[in-house]
Amino acid sequence: MNINIKITEYSSHKELSSKDQELVAIAISQLKTSHSPYSNFSVGASVRLENDVIWGGSNQENSSYPVGICAERVVLSIASTQSKGHAVNTMVVVYTDPKGNHDSPLAPCGMCRQAIREQTLRQKKAIKIILTTKHGKTLILNNADDLLPLSFTLDK
Ligand code: THU
Repeated sequence: MNINIKITEYSSHKELSSKDQELVAIAISQLKTSHSPYSNFSVGASVRLENDVIWGGSNQENSSYPVGICAERVVLSIASTQSKGHAVNTMVVVYTDPKGNHDSPLAPCGMCRQAIREQTLRQKKAIKIILTTKHGKTLILNNADDLLPLSFTLDK
């Protein structure tokens, strides 16, 4: 078995389409809503739905650490409750770590990959994912599912 994953790399999010740049700007603006006093690692996420509605979210930590939730799952939950039934076309994820920016984009955690995978199954439509940084490079996968090959589902 071969698993091939296509990841397109850009040196800056300024090379993206104006619609995607708009979504990146929303994800960056969400960084200030992060509640991350324990890690000082802020993550912002945004989604554009098929009806062009945009939602944003950020990581929300808790003094009982495992209670915290990642930005990706926050924004997916907002989208599926506030815009029920509308497919997610694109997701952007951006971050700032305690020391400032990195050049390398954040790779979503395993739990978020599973959540994105389930959203894709629910909507039967691929989600483009843009992993970016404020000033560094950008990675794009046209199908976020590619981040989680051989994923768990109840349908065998
Ligand atoms: N975090 C996210 O929001 N998304 C990820 O994909 C990985 C990690 C958050 C969780 C925690 O609040 C902080 O980043 C440090 O792990």
